[in-house]
Amino acid sequence: MPHFYRAGLLWLTLLLLLGGIPVNPALGEDSSGAPSVLITGSNRGIGLEFVRQYAEEGWQVIATCRSPAKADALQAIAGQHANVRIEAMDIADADSVSDLAERLQDQPVDLLLNNAAYLGQPGEQQFPDIDFEVFERILAVNTMGTTRVSVAFREHVAASQQKKIVILGSAAGSIGQVSAAPNTYLPYRASKAGLHLIARNLSLALAEQGITVGLINPGLVDTRGVLDRKPGEPVPEEFVPIMPLIEKGLIELQRPADSVRDMRLQIARMSPESPGLFMNYDGREVPW
Ligand SMILES: NC(=O)c1ccc[n+]([C@@H]2O[C@H](COP(=O)([O-])OP(=O)(O)OC[C@H]3O[C@@H](n4cnc5c(N)ncnc54)[C@H](OP(=O)(O)O)[C@@H]3O)[C@@H](O)[C@H]2O)c1
Repeated sequence: MPHFYRAGLLWLTLLLLLGGIPVNPALGEDSSGAPSVLITGSNRGIGLEFVRQYAEEGWQVIATCRSPAKADALQAIAGQHANVRIEAMDIADADSVSDLAERLQDQPVDLLLNNAAYLGQPGEQQFPDIDFEVFERILAVNTMGTTRVSVAFREHVAASQQKKIVILGSAAGSIGQVSAAPNTYLPYRASKAGLHLIARNLSLALAEQGITVGLINPGLVDTRGVLDRKPGEPVPEEFVPIMPLIEKGLIELQRPADSVRDMRLQIARMSPESPGLFMNYDGREVPW
């Protein structure tokens, strides 16, 4: 081997031993220096995809869901990634939320990702035949549950480096975009509109602790596998009314991996100086 190669290798070895070559902290072997993310509703849909992508990037992922024992897809990801830890949390249950907040009291959370929500079926949310028990359940999960989690974990976030709380909102809850009576999914839409107000309030109330609050609309995301269904397979009930518009390309339906990749980019860019609060997955502002 020529002597300049030998010398180069020696320097490289020395630099590595002395830690002189910067290693991407998010990808480092020791995950203790990596940022942490706590995700609600992470056993399926968008939440599961957030777990997959943050795990692959080397974050410490605290993946919460109502029934860890039944969360097969999540267990499979945790089996492949030592940086994923699964915890039980039902966001509509005050004891469940406070138990986890207490158990994790020494754990800083760089990013609290409020993803969990209950959509319900369209038939029970159709004006004027609204099922008010369903309405209560939707408010209890989406509006109150998300608020409860944000309140319970705000000190964990304040104790972290990145200090971010992100809430998954919905364009369906944007009052500014209502041009005709939103007869269907009225309770779900109302739960999100209320949550948007709470997100704005949290962003103002928590600013003095250095916490950035973001509200993000994931777009219309194919969490039911509509795009990949085989010929003859039925369309899920909630997609039936909009299927003609999707097929004509008038409504864009995205795969979870694409929406989550774009949202992660927006989340990484969020800072206390970020203009606006309610944004689309692609960074455009969404009207309130
Ligand atoms: N998909 C879209 O097109 C779309 C569009 C706009 C906004 N969003 C928002 O994006 C977020 C994720 O949507 P998604 O489509 O992935 O929803 P999804 O497929 O219906 O999954 C909802 C998740 O929330 C969990 N969840 C429900 N109630 C809970 C509770 N009380 N405590 C803890 N977890 C609970 C579910 O757990 P279980 O399995 O235990 O029920 C599930 O993991 C939601 O906030 C939704 O409103 C979605």
